[in-house]
Amino acid sequence: MRETLRYLLGVAGPSGFGSSCTGEQVTQDIYCSNPSNLTAIITGATSGIGAETARVLAKRGLRLVIPARDLKRAAEVKDWIQGESPEAEIILMEMDLSSFASINRFCSMFLSLGLPLNILVNNAGKYCKKLQLTEDKFEMTFATNYLGKSPSPHPSHACFEFALLLR
Ligand SMILES: NC(=O)c1ccc[n+]([C@@H]2O[C@H](COP(=O)([O-])OP(=O)(O)OC[C@H]3O[C@@H](n4cnc5c(N)ncnc54)[C@H](OP(=O)(O)O)[C@@H]3O)[C@@H](O)[C@H]2O)c1
Repeated sequence: MRETLRYLLGVAGPSGFGSSCTGEQVTQDIYCSNPSNLTAIITGATSGIGAETARVLAKRGLRLVIPARDLKRAAEVKDWIQGESPEAEIILMEMDLSSFASINRFCSMFLSLGLPLNILVNNAGKYCKKLQLTEDKFEMTFATNYLGKSPSPHPSHACFEFALLLR
């Protein structure tokens, strides 16, 4: 109850930031002599919190890799970010978190670039009201929000974070 109130009121937590803080405020004192050497992967950057996170990290000079299942929407976000930060390096790649094959393809493509992975913003998520199954025959919300993001419960499932860590 106390935590909920603190959240609703925007009271700062141990990090010094609260729910009313913006991405710009959170990152404004970050110092890095050469931020363009840093690579951030941001999932779910085609809208909402992910797009705003991508905008702010690009503004701070980081290289962005945006995996998206809809590359047209991702290109629109890229244009929007570069409207503010024309020098921003933004790499778009296809990835659908509800498909293990797609996650695997993305991980292979990313690793073939030979870039470091300094920041991973595991933001993408969805909620399906109706029962839907993925191509791998898992329930869609569970597959997208948990199986696709976290260390795999099954050795044959190459999940996003796990696959990147292992290689
Ligand atoms: N906003 C809130 O109040 C709130 C509260 C609690 C938790 N969250 C969580 O915070 C995260 C961001 O929230 P938001 O409000 O910014 O959400 P949002 O605007 O709905 O954006 C969700 C993002 O996830 C992507 N996505 C969904 N399914 C995907 C898949 N199978 N593969 C790849 N990308 C996929 C979407 O891509 P497409 O463009 O392809 O759809 C979109 O970019 C979500 O994980 C959400 O559950 C948000």
